[in-house]
Amino acid sequence: MKIIRANDYADISRKAANILSAQIILKPDCVLGLATGGTPVGAYQQLVEWYNKGDLDFSGVTTVNLDEYRGLPKDHPESYWSFMHRHLFDHVNINPARINLPDGTNPDADAACAQYNQIIHSVGGIDLQLLGLGPNGHIGFNEPGKAFELETHCVDLTEATIEANKRFFDGNEDLVPRQAYTMGIKTIMQARKVLVVANGLAKAKAVKAVVSGPVTPECPGSILQLHPDCTLVADEEALSLL
Ligand code: PGA
Repeated sequence: MKIIRANDYADISRKAANILSAQIILKPDCVLGLATGGTPVGAYQQLVEWYNKGDLDFSGVTTVNLDEYRGLPKDHPESYWSFMHRHLFDHVNINPARINLPDGTNPDADAACAQYNQIIHSVGGIDLQLLGLGPNGHIGFNEPGKAFELETHCVDLTEATIEANKRFFDGNEDLVPRQAYTMGIKTIMQARKVLVVANGLAKAKAVKAVVSGPVTPECPGSILQLHPDCTLVADEEALSLL
């Protein structure tokens, strides 16, 4: 895994946005795997800024997001659909027909997951997958467990993730959905490039486990040690236990 040290959050965001924009410039019809959560927001802001300057063109880009809450309507402010539109899609010239997220409104989990796998296959897989890292080492909503899940599946969120995400639901954990549809580890590992962003002390343990711990489903992100082209952009605090 390649590690790029950043000075602070703004620097992480700029460096990550540079890698994403290089992908778009080198392959204007690329497939970007995108992530929600707090960490990628700065990179999205930077991309929007460069787009506004005329430096980036999203018209040929296809996106597939990592995950979506099961049971939230798309227009719920905390759905990942809304999140992605608020932070990126509403501000750039992406073709709405090329925006893909798991369909959290489909209560039939098997059908929703099969449909999303089919979408990912039909666009030819992912050129560059952006990932945040959960404090427990999760990637997407692939939570610590006994086995690596392969493709899109329905997950029960762990208490740790519900706790981490309640800040987006007025601090009320009762409002956090209990399940999500998430891309699986095989799909993430088949991305041609992976870019992980991690910021702050809260991620230091997860970063250490992902970069230098055993490869185990107990820390889903540890599988990235086996990816041939994975880059981690992190600040000194997140890297402090390495
Ligand atoms: P964060 O979440 O960027 O909001 O810290 C990352 C994640 O849980 O995947």
